[in-house]
Amino acid sequence: MSILVLGGAGYIGSHTVDRLIEKGYDVAVVDNLVTGHRAAVNDKARFYEGDVADTNFMDQVFEKEDVEGVIHFAAFSIVPESMKDPLKYFDNNTAGMVKLLEVMHKHDVKKIVFSSTAATYGEPKQIPIKETDPQIPTNPYGESKLAMEKIMHWSDVAYGIKFVALRYFNVAGAKADGSIGEDHHPETHLVPIILQVAAGERDQLQIFGDDYPTKDGTNVRDYVHVVDLADAHILALEYLKKGNDSDAFNLGSSTGFSNKQMLDAAREVTGKPIPAVMADRRAGDPSTLVAASDKARSVLGWDPQFDDVKEIIKTAWTWKQSHPEGYNDRGGKD
Ligand code: UFG
Repeated sequence: MSILVLGGAGYIGSHTVDRLIEKGYDVAVVDNLVTGHRAAVNDKARFYEGDVADTNFMDQVFEKEDVEGVIHFAAFSIVPESMKDPLKYFDNNTAGMVKLLEVMHKHDVKKIVFSSTAATYGEPKQIPIKETDPQIPTNPYGESKLAMEKIMHWSDVAYGIKFVALRYFNVAGAKADGSIGEDHHPETHLVPIILQVAAGERDQLQIFGDDYPTKDGTNVRDYVHVVDLADAHILALEYLKKGNDSDAFNLGSSTGFSNKQMLDAAREVTGKPIPAVMADRRAGDPSTLVAASDKARSVLGWDPQFDDVKEIIKTAWTWKQSHPEGYNDRGGKD
């Protein structure tokens, strides 16, 4: 039986496919290559190019594959873009989930692990954020993912489709050998942008806001290594295979780093000066996001290997140096 990975050519998806293959799973990938890269997908996975919201196409994939469980990454995930174009997010992410669940229900597939996000919490009332804390998103991206969690809950109640929602905090890094990594066009995330400056592709980093109520005035985020995150999906799948109930888990390191601290860490790792300037706040950014992730550790047995942001940045730098132009495949364009 196969594990069907939707969005398996994207950043987190491709690392998860790689880990599934390493662990001996039979893997099939669906990706429309709008933001993903064909070259990011491990050769041992079967690849289907198409859209998750295309019901006829997905029907054929489920006909061909004997799907044991679905891991669903296929979504748009850029907070500032979602502020400008919310309907793009509700259509692709939320409506796409409805279509997917219809096909799963039709083919009697009862397990799904899905990318949710810290952005479903919005501006937290307390740090670290617990899974039971209120979910009040401050941007349409978070809202689109919260709606997906709710749709899954009611699909569980009605059709018995069991789910695990993994609420990611900030993902960074790359496979340690530098063979796969992060490649977005345009890039909006902090770590790859800092490394573009280190590599001389950008003149300077703009730090969005230095008047937040944090230790140095810049936003604080909780960084997780992409391979640790990938492993959490496999643990979540095994959790569902054991017949456990649907649930949601935070995935973070439980330690917060400010944007300025990330810059300093990157300067140390790369040995480059990395010029930076302060800029206005970016719309939709919560001040601080740090996860309580003991639930994933105790219930799923998650044991993240990277506990040092410098080590995380080092793997991203290895990828950047070996792939200065990313996959260079004309893919990944928005
Ligand atoms: N930042 C800068 N300059 C840049 C880019 C980012 O200062 O050029 C800052 C942002 O303002 C923010 C921090 O760096 O304070 C991190 O920003 P990212 O864009 O890297 O990540 P986000 O925190 O906005 O979002 C990420 C994921 C979301 C997820 C969220 C949860 O992209 O999917 O983490 O924390 F919801």
